[in-house]
Amino acid sequence: MTNTHKTVHTLLIHILLISLFPLKITTSPKTEGYALVKWKNTLIPPLPPSLSSWSLNNLCTNWYSITCDNTTNTTVSDINLSGLNLIGTLSQLSFASLPNLTNLNLSGNNLGGSIPFTICTLSKLTFLDMDSNLFEGMLPYKLEKLKELQYLSLWSNNLNEIGNLKKMRILFFYQNQLSGFIPMEIENMKEIKELDLSRNQLCGPIPVEIGKLKEVTMLGLSQNQFFGPIPPEIGNIKKLRQLYLYQNQLSGLIPVEIGSLKDMV
Ligand SMILES: *[C@@H]1O[C@H](CO)[C@@H](O)[C@H](O)[C@H]1NC(C)=O
Ligand SMILES: *[C@@H]1O[C@H](CO)[C@@H](O)[C@H](O)[C@H]1NC(C)=O
Ligand SMILES: *[C@@H]1O[C@H](CO)[C@@H](O)[C@H](O)[C@H]1NC(C)=O
Ligand SMILES: *[C@@H]1O[C@H](CO)[C@@H](O)[C@H](O)[C@H]1NC(C)=O
Ligand SMILES: *[C@@H]1O[C@H](CO)[C@@H](O)[C@H](O)[C@H]1NC(C)=O
Repeated sequence: MTNTHKTVHTLLIHILLISLFPLKITTSPKTEGYALVKWKNTLIPPLPPSLSSWSLNNLCTNWYSITCDNTTNTTVSDINLSGLNLIGTLSQLSFASLPNLTNLNLSGNNLGGSIPFTICTLSKLTFLDMDSNLFEGMLPYKLEKLKELQYLSLWSNNLNEIGNLKKMRILFFYQNQLSGFIPMEIENMKEIKELDLSRNQLCGPIPVEIGKLKEVTMLGLSQNQFFGPIPPEIGNIKKLRQLYLYQNQLSGLIPVEIGSLKDMV
């Protein structure tokens, strides 16, 4: 065969193969287990002995830290790897292979790098806990597409941007690298109940828009570089119970509106 013929021939075989096996991700305990083992093998040893239970079989029966869904018991719903001192990144974790995951807890490890945008394929994710790690950079912008996500704990990392999180109810972002003015996206978080941005490098005045967060019960802005007066609009947040403003350069008096908040402790 000539070279051209060879190329055309190979191309045809490729097209044939692609049409026979459409690129569709199907789940089964096998593909989910495979994705997790593949990721485990990218972590820097020594790994905790408990993770030797991650073999390719028995995903829902005896894998350490893995819980399967409570109806069919065949697909992963919970992963709790908190406090294991795992070292590595998430770049090789195929989130698309874990479509039924609702709870992911990676808190208290030494995982770093960026938070991959593929995490946005976890459409059922409700609780995401990645605090006390070394994650850096910005949050994936499409995180707002995760309609079920209500709880996002990212305190003590090196993250520098929040992105758009309209549906969030609980957001722990203290002890990160946020800088500049308070992110304007905050104003869109209409359902937020607990928001902690303490211990970052935020500066500027506290924006009056903060008063639009009607559901907030806890607001942490301490240990930043905010300056100027405390906006009286904070008094509009009737459900506010805990407000942390210490260690800033705020000036002026505490607005009387804040004193009138009934539930303040
Ligand atoms: C899932 O199946 C395993 C093995 O049969 C069992 O140990 C476990 O308790 C089951 N979990 C649920 C939630 O039914
Ligand atoms: C099963 O899990 C779902 C979602 O986490 C929960 O709402 C439901 O109450 C659970 N059912 C049982 C029987 O535990
Ligand atoms: C997650 O794992 C940690 C450490 O093993 C344990 O203390 C904690 O209770 C677990 N949380 C859940 C919800 O199972
Ligand atoms: C898990 O996710 C797949 C793909 O979205 C879906 O077809 C399947 O019904 C889900 N299983 C359960 C038990 O929710
Ligand atoms: C994650 O695990 C830590 C440590 O066990 C625990 O304090 C935290 O509440 C867990 N997060 C969630 C969302 O369950």
